[in-house]
Amino acid sequence: MSRLLGKVALVTGAGSIGPGWGNGKAMSTLFAREGAQVFAVDINAAAAEETRSIIDDECGTCATFAADVSKSDDVERAVNACLAAFGRIDILVNNVGVVRLGGVVELSEEDWDRANAINLKSVFLTCKHVIPHMLARKSGSVINISSIAAIRYTGIDYASYYATKGAMLSLTRGVALRYAGSGLRANCILPGLMDTPLVYADVARAYDSQEDQAVIKAKRDAMCPTGHMGDAWDVAYAALYLASDEAKYVTGTELVVDGGITAKFT
Ligand SMILES: NC(=O)c1ccc[n+]([C@@H]2O[C@H](COP(=O)([O-])OP(=O)(O)OC[C@H]3O[C@@H](n4cnc5c(N)ncnc54)[C@H](O)[C@@H]3O)[C@@H](O)[C@H]2O)c1
Repeated sequence: MSRLLGKVALVTGAGSIGPGWGNGKAMSTLFAREGAQVFAVDINAAAAEETRSIIDDECGTCATFAADVSKSDDVERAVNACLAAFGRIDILVNNVGVVRLGGVVELSEEDWDRANAINLKSVFLTCKHVIPHMLARKSGSVINISSIAAIRYTGIDYASYYATKGAMLSLTRGVALRYAGSGLRANCILPGLMDTPLVYADVARAYDSQEDQAVIKAKRDAMCPTGHMGDAWDVAYAALYLASDEAKYVTGTELVVDGGITAKFT
């Protein structure tokens, strides 16, 4: 239980949008179990607090910070608060992501801009403010939570999600290569169809808002080669590997965690 001992992890979207385990909540909890001090950032202070109380109950270390990661000032304040609390940042997880349904015709310009600000600009902002501190210590792991929507059409009409999740891959490669000789690593995780609270909130409308959770779950399970969706822990264990020194030669890559769904019809 010490794969991240002595490390500090800043996780964005560290709460979850509803009851159960979101990816950010699971990553934060798993990182703390493995010895990291976790700085849990979320726009919803209560959601971040819930994550902190889980970690507290397990005798881990977690501090929270309320911030909108699409806003430069908020990100700068969060990074400074993390440094004040824990003195360093070894791991940066960009987990915040929202779904705005609609193709290019239906989507409002406002929703396009908001999705870009939350899903993509936030990654630029956190990297901008965190990487100088990583460079000073010649060490750091940046983990960006993208999606298989970056590399496949998932059947859902969400143009801004495809665009932002795809751009995350290129941005991550750019960061990885720019700093490969400076002790920094940057990688993406591409989750497939995961059973997290997000699915029953933002994504649910794509299936049919009349349908209950059991029907949505059954539909998504049936799309997966394994017969069921993955969960937040599948993402968390992939992130744990990329965060740890076990991945010291892994940078600029994309780790697909999807139960084989993208391999199905390639
Ligand atoms: N669930 C899936 O099937 C799936 C699949 C592929 C990728 N993903 C990605 O995984 C990531 C996390 O998903 P999740 O299911 O854990 O989501 P979630 O919605 O449960 O949790 C995300 C957290 O981010 C917070 N948040 C939202 N906007 C914010 C902002 N502007 N600033 C700070 N915090 C903000 C929310 O309050 C919430 O607590 C997302 O990037 C999502 O795109 C999910």
